[in-house]
Amino acid sequence: MSGPLPKSASARLNALLSSFKEMAKRQVGYPVNQDFDYSDLLPFLQYSANNVGDPFQGSNFRMNTHEIEREVISTFADLMHLDQEQAWGYVTSGGTEGNMYGLYMGRELFPTGTVYFSQDTHYSVVKLLRVLNMRNIMIKSQENGEVDYEDLRETIRVNRDTPAIIVANIGTTMKGAVDDLYRIRDILEGLDVQDSYVHADAALSGMILPFVPDPQPHGFDAGVNSMAVSGHKLIGSPLPCGVVLTNKDYVARIARSIEYVGALDTTIPGSRSALAPLIIWHAFQERGHEGFQETVVGMLEVAEYGVRRFNDAGVPAWRNRNSATVVFPRPKPEVFRKWQIAPFEDIAHVITMPHVTRDMMDELVDDCLR
Ligand SMILES: Cc1ncc(COP(=O)(O)O)c(C=O)c1O
Repeated sequence: MSGPLPKSASARLNALLSSFKEMAKRQVGYPVNQDFDYSDLLPFLQYSANNVGDPFQGSNFRMNTHEIEREVISTFADLMHLDQEQAWGYVTSGGTEGNMYGLYMGRELFPTGTVYFSQDTHYSVVKLLRVLNMRNIMIKSQENGEVDYEDLRETIRVNRDTPAIIVANIGTTMKGAVDDLYRIRDILEGLDVQDSYVHADAALSGMILPFVPDPQPHGFDAGVNSMAVSGHKLIGSPLPCGVVLTNKDYVARIARSIEYVGALDTTIPGSRSALAPLIIWHAFQERGHEGFQETVVGMLEVAEYGVRRFNDAGVPAWRNRNSATVVFPRPKPEVFRKWQIAPFEDIAHVITMPHVTRDMMDELVDDCLR
């Protein structure tokens, strides 16, 4: 065993910790929930556990959390209206990996397909399309961040000789806009497109819509073929993680048996975090459906309060339906120095994650007006 840390290293860690504590108070622009306590899981940090392989098939590396991971997938299958018998998925390293899985699956099912994604789609998708070398076309967005359905229809019509692989946004990064999955399916049916695949990027709103009384369509019952949801966003996690969900039947297309690890290779990484499934599972055990419902209701109330506060002060802030993302004109640079806010061209946003209070919104609005 190694000895205690040198004093200088301890001092650096303490300084870093203090800076994190300070920053957490001003973190309003990025959708990461800071409100969690996973200290029950601390003893697991002493083990080199590894979830290599397909969580539904087991592996030679038996110090894993595959059983817990399967429960996480089952929980998400319920939230996303995916039949348990058909459900397959795994805990990813975050939204990008989930999107990569969806696109990879789309490509394996339809190698000649064209990918359609909107201007407001997360930047990971453009990067992944380069990595996967898939033919793709960007579709215009509407002002509120939703895909422009007319442009989507016309572009698919012109390219109807190739299968359509669509990335639908279930909550865009900047404006929290939700693409209408029924309209997307109607477009495909109206054009008589035989081969199609819809991947839903539900990084943040995948954990909002299942908990609101009047959600936009967001699940497999609305024609989704795969879906990526983030774990470190609304659930909250000290390490980036997420969930990818798809239909079990598709996975056979990419599975390869690997003798060395005694596992079916169906995931993008080899070694995978055994802690991430524990974190997500812990969150659901602790808070349950009702707990998340309460959290989401609270977030949307603070978002509405923020919009009102801005509007009352004459600032044209707004938000999409069922969204915790408050969009407002890009403020002065001093505001960015104090608050961690995400800017994009002439707008900025605040996402009212559970640690964002009405008092914080008041202070932010006052700072924007100064
Ligand atoms: C809509 C959307 N998709 C995907 C991602 C990528 O997630 P990650 O940073 O976990 O890879 C994000 C991150 O902000 C996002 O907002």
